[in-house]
Amino acid sequence: MNDPVTPIAPIAPSNAAADHAKARFIRRMFDTIAPDYDRLNTWVSFGMDRLWRRRAAGAMPLEGWIADWCAGTGALARVYLRRRGSRGRVVLCDFSSEMERLSDGMFTPAERSRVCYVCCDVTRPPFRDQVFAGQMMGFSLRNLISRPQFFQEAHRCAAPNGQGALLDLSSPGFGPWRWLCRLHFGIIAPLIVRLVARRGEFAYRYLSESIFRHASPREIVSEIKTAGFADARHDSLAGGIGVIFRWGPK
Ligand SMILES: C[S@@+](CC[C@H](N)C(=O)[O-])C[C@H]1O[C@@H](n2cnc3c(N)ncnc32)[C@H](O)[C@@H]1O
Repeated sequence: MNDPVTPIAPIAPSNAAADHAKARFIRRMFDTIAPDYDRLNTWVSFGMDRLWRRRAAGAMPLEGWIADWCAGTGALARVYLRRRGSRGRVVLCDFSSEMERLSDGMFTPAERSRVCYVCCDVTRPPFRDQVFAGQMMGFSLRNLISRPQFFQEAHRCAAPNGQGALLDLSSPGFGPWRWLCRLHFGIIAPLIVRLVARRGEFAYRYLSESIFRHASPREIVSEIKTAGFADARHDSLAGGIGVIFRWGPK
């Protein structure tokens, strides 16, 4: 496979994104919780994150270049690479150098030959136009400083007929369920973090609160359409606590 993902600009070192205060805050927060992040995610979501990742990775084409935006340690990429029949190569993009460092030991040698890690801000990705057959993201839309800018870049980088699957948490519309989720993310999840990791409680409080401050799935679909993906749509997961935004052939 030729390498169409040659950066068009020098790859930004991870601190190049630090010119924006929120980006710096987010990046530092993820650097801090990186060693425990994957484990805590599974504990806090009672394993649902794994099922949902399979849904998102399952929506990717079996071949071509796949972007894993805000990849963290590459949990979503690993699900894609281990999917039966997948032959694609994954470009992991994240601005947390700690996540990148930890990801290194998490891929088998065979998997490592199919991935590369690019340390960058996903709202300014250094890639050519129309390179990605698939684009996926796990639990990160809430952290972006400018979602519209990210969607514009995703559209620029999308190959014709490319597919997208962006997974995130959301606030359920049904009152009692929303109340239970608030209880879980406001009290139970930080407690689990305190017991299991003994650090990062603040980060998980921030991340929990961000779920309930986040734009609604309809607003996000409209932003994705505005960026140029006319067929953008969303699927609710577990009564609306999870959501996958999709574009491309069904
Ligand atoms: C909640 S974690 C998700 C990690 C992974 N996608 C997963 O499924 O577990 C969010 C990740 O997004 C990264 N991130 C947030 N904003 C970013 C940005 N503007 N550019 C690059 N990475 C970003 C953080 O460094 C962090 O690793």
